[in-house]
Amino acid sequence: MGVPHPQNESFPAQRIKALVSVPARVTPPTKDSSKPVRSLHLNESPYPPSSAAIRAMQLASEATNRYPDHNGTDLVDVIAERNDVASDRIVIGAGSNEILFSSAAIALDPSDEVVAPVPGFPAYAKSTALAGGLFVGVPVRADGLVDVPAMLKAVTGRTRVVFVSSPHNPTGGLLPKKEIERLVKELPDHLLLHFDEAYYEFGLAAGGPETLPILAGRTGPWIASRSFSKAYGLAGARVGYGIASSAEVADAYRRARINFTVGAVALAGALAAIRDPAHTHATIDKIAAERDWLAARLQELGFVSLPSAANFLTVLTPLSASVVENKLATENIYVIGMPWRDTHGAIRITVGTREDSEAVIASLKSLVNK
Ligand SMILES: Cc1ncc(COP(=O)(O)O)c(C=O)c1O
Repeated sequence: MGVPHPQNESFPAQRIKALVSVPARVTPPTKDSSKPVRSLHLNESPYPPSSAAIRAMQLASEATNRYPDHNGTDLVDVIAERNDVASDRIVIGAGSNEILFSSAAIALDPSDEVVAPVPGFPAYAKSTALAGGLFVGVPVRADGLVDVPAMLKAVTGRTRVVFVSSPHNPTGGLLPKKEIERLVKELPDHLLLHFDEAYYEFGLAAGGPETLPILAGRTGPWIASRSFSKAYGLAGARVGYGIASSAEVADAYRRARINFTVGAVALAGALAAIRDPAHTHATIDKIAAERDWLAARLQELGFVSLPSAANFLTVLTPLSASVVENKLATENIYVIGMPWRDTHGAIRITVGTREDSEAVIASLKSLVNK
């Protein structure tokens, strides 16, 4: 029997103690089976991945006694060709989440600063805290776009990472070419610009600019990260990638990366999915049309949507956002409520199928008595 040890005050490290525990949101199990669960809170695709991807994943599962290709060579080569960049500038990760966390890990020393939009994707703040950095949040504009002049103003000599996203989560706001050009021109070279493009394919379809040629004008380091979780419908597989400004920058990510984070089944699914653009385009078109239909119906009920170029809508609510979120949850419809300045708040609704949209509208109709 061991002698009891006094509590170890230094465990875990201070920066871990300070982490606000925000567990990943999950889809709750169905309590009332008469009402199907509508998972509209994670910005997933409502459609399964391409059948070619499903077949490739089934086949790959037969060889999972072996470790995967750590570098994802076949997938990286296709991404390189599609984007006309050298393969050595591309890194893969377990979702683009991994690339976001790597940016903080490789760029920050303790007390270095990170500038990022708020509200924004939670990984910006969490990756900063985990790396011992200081998070400087910059409020997004009233229309939901990243506020480029305010972000530039927040940068100091201690800033080592600037996270920007377009289309932005949680608003869907798409930065115009001119704003990205301004960022590229005015951000100093001493920091890493991480351009988060998890919704890249939706942004392009909505008329957004190709960002790589604009980012190429930057002399300091940068990376653009993208995801197979959204337009490709592979959220459960966990694959993302980053396209870095140079092979040297990409190499920093490769050196820091935990071995074998992207599994062989996920790699096979992503490779087959990227080779099936017809399925991806059909998914994007269906979701964009449904987003516009849903926004118009919500507007009729007094719920005003921010302009969105992504697979979700953020909607200002005519009554308390938490009341709306809770009411939908009683019907197994899951969305995310949030404060929104000078209003009753907002809810973020992932665009699902027509059935999902109709269930949302029916529920909100009964709430506002229309
Ligand atoms: C803005 C943004 N970035 C990154 C991610 C991470 O996605 P994944 O790790 O699935 O690629 C998400 C997921 O919702 C997101 O909304």
